[in-house]
Amino acid sequence: MSNGYYKTEVSVKEYIKLAKDVNGAELIEKLKPFLSLNSSILEIGSGPGSDWEILKRRNNKVVGSDNSKEFLNHLTSKFPNGEFLNLDAVSLNTNLKFDCIYSNKVMHHLTDEELVKSIKKQSDILNAEGIICHSFWKGEGSEIFKGLFVNYHEKEDLFKFYDPSFEILFLDFYTEFDKEDSILLIGKKK
Ligand SMILES: C[S@@+](CC[C@H](N)C(=O)[O-])C[C@H]1O[C@@H](n2cnc3c(N)ncnc32)[C@H](O)[C@@H]1O
Repeated sequence: MSNGYYKTEVSVKEYIKLAKDVNGAELIEKLKPFLSLNSSILEIGSGPGSDWEILKRRNNKVVGSDNSKEFLNHLTSKFPNGEFLNLDAVSLNTNLKFDCIYSNKVMHHLTDEELVKSIKKQSDILNAEGIICHSFWKGEGSEIFKGLFVNYHEKEDLFKFYDPSFEILFLDFYTEFDKEDSILLIGKKK
């Protein structure tokens, strides 16, 4: 789905300001037991780069990515030594392979059909027994919010989408703003 809000300099600056105190530190803590220190990690939808920075503190081989040129400009100027790719979450068009793929509040911008395509592609670009870790907004249906497509999910849908390609290691609610408004999924490539 096209998401105009992430594509202009003004709105990207606004998002970075609004999200300055938000990061995935707690999610990354949950992911750590499943990753070794030398695992290579691809982050999808790095946006402001807060999670990329936390991941990078522990693992050397962390590649960030986004499909917004504005966010990529921000990432490369804020982290000049970082590695960032222009990647769309659905096509994930890269020849690189990773031990882990991480995203925090990105996959909800995909329709169910796009999510299924992305999951297959994620499996293709992961090494054997590779790990995925993604967060979602919990709920039913979808809406357009600030010009952004937002797809809500329940645990059962996520299990159905991921189970063909991934063994689910962790699937549970967590609280971002309202009680249990989010879901974290961690899985291992089958
Ligand atoms: C809600 S922000 C989250 C950013 C960051 N993960 C965080 O937690 O602050 C969503 C990010 O995903 C990116 N994004 C949205 N749809 C995408 C897609 N189809 N492919 C790649 N990135 C996408 C946006 O450009 C934006 O940087």
